[in-house]
Amino acid sequence: MDFKRNIIITGGAGFIGSHVVRLFVNKYQDYHIINVDKLTYAGNLANLKDIEQQPNYTFVKADICDFDKMQQLMQEHHVDGIIHLAAESHVDRSIKDPFTFAHTNVIGTLTLLQAAKNYWESLPEGYKGKLFYHISTDEVYGALELTHPEGLESPFTTKASSEHHHAYGTTFFTEETKYNPHSPYSASKASSDHFVRAFHDTYGMPTIVTNCSNNYGPYQFPEKLIPLFINNIRHRKPLPVYGKGENVRDWLFVEDHARAIDLIFHKGKIAETYNIGGFNEWKNIDIIKVVIRTVDRLLGRKEGEDMQLITYVTDRKGHDMRYAIDSRKLQRELGWEPSLQFEEGIEKTVRWYLDNQEWMDNVTSGDYQKYYDSMYKNR
Ligand code: NAD
Ligand code: TYD
Repeated sequence: MDFKRNIIITGGAGFIGSHVVRLFVNKYQDYHIINVDKLTYAGNLANLKDIEQQPNYTFVKADICDFDKMQQLMQEHHVDGIIHLAAESHVDRSIKDPFTFAHTNVIGTLTLLQAAKNYWESLPEGYKGKLFYHISTDEVYGALELTHPEGLESPFTTKASSEHHHAYGTTFFTEETKYNPHSPYSASKASSDHFVRAFHDTYGMPTIVTNCSNNYGPYQFPEKLIPLFINNIRHRKPLPVYGKGENVRDWLFVEDHARAIDLIFHKGKIAETYNIGGFNEWKNIDIIKVVIRTVDRLLGRKEGEDMQLITYVTDRKGHDMRYAIDSRKLQRELGWEPSLQFEEGIEKTVRWYLDNQEWMDNVTSGDYQKYYDSMYKNR
């Protein structure tokens, strides 16, 4: 079948990637979506069970650092768009093993860029109608100060803004904020962002970069704060809060990020950067209390009885104090708005993890890694 577009989504078996793949496969049945994922510990094909039989979906187990394979895939599928999410994504792992982060995030991105360049430059129409869209993080901008620990009334608002609606400082990351990464993770993402922009500036490749705040929602690997804590509360295990729990993150529901990616892929301006966030800042300790109350309520426990699980532990090395994204450019230029308020998003998320205990058990036992063999290996 001839498709209108042929798009590689890298990292589609991961948390955010699986939401992007699902959205594109269901919404654009005339597009061929090729999910390229190495299936590291973070890749889980069970995240895509509901769409894996769709005729416009193909899964390819491959490493983005494999140049020949990337080049072969572009030629074989006549790829005209790349949405690049594959990465090592967990800060704590990057502190223990920075080399893997440099390899996947920097060399992997460069490999994909060079493979796309070779393929697109070999075509008669060249770069016309092509797009390399790179998904990045707000962490590349470094850390903001927490000048107002009690919280200020936020000057901005979106539908995602929580009812508590605070800002913990007066500065925000804009698209002009100078890069100042602190962790090996954010340093590797910053480097990959620079390579993407360099390919635009040097070769004229059509590229877009977006920098998003912390995502939460279904299918997130339980090493990240929210799913880890939901699972620990369920099993009445300690909740390790780093430092004093005062660090601030700006939280966005993952499906709202996927919707932003769809909009920017289709309507974004070439060579631009867009920040994506919900103006929804939370101190870790406050978010943890909301999660505890929600889990307790949904499990029929006394609301708040699991507060005793909170355990303050040694702080993360180089722990960034505050992230807060100014996403007004995306709202102004492309009309994007988050769809869910934080309280609704958290309720939906906690409910999903509690209703999908089998998914969680498969992840925590390691069984999810057998899914590829059972479904794909002999195809
Ligand atoms: P994730 O860790 O859940 O998923 C990453 C996916 O990439 C996995 O499926 C993994 O198997 C795959 N992968 C890793 N190395 C690979 C390689 N060498 N070749 C092919 N595939 C490989 O990550 P996530 O949280 O979904 O993040 C996705 C992207 O979004 C990342 O680039 C991350 O930097 C960015 N981001 C994440 C957040 C967040 O809050 N999670 C916020 C902003 C930006
Ligand atoms: P995380 O989900 O790892 O995302 P990121 O580091 O990319 O922001 O962590 C979110 C915040 O929660 C961060 O400030 C670190 C903190 N945290 C804990 O206090 N305890 C934990 O066990 C984890 C995983 C994170």
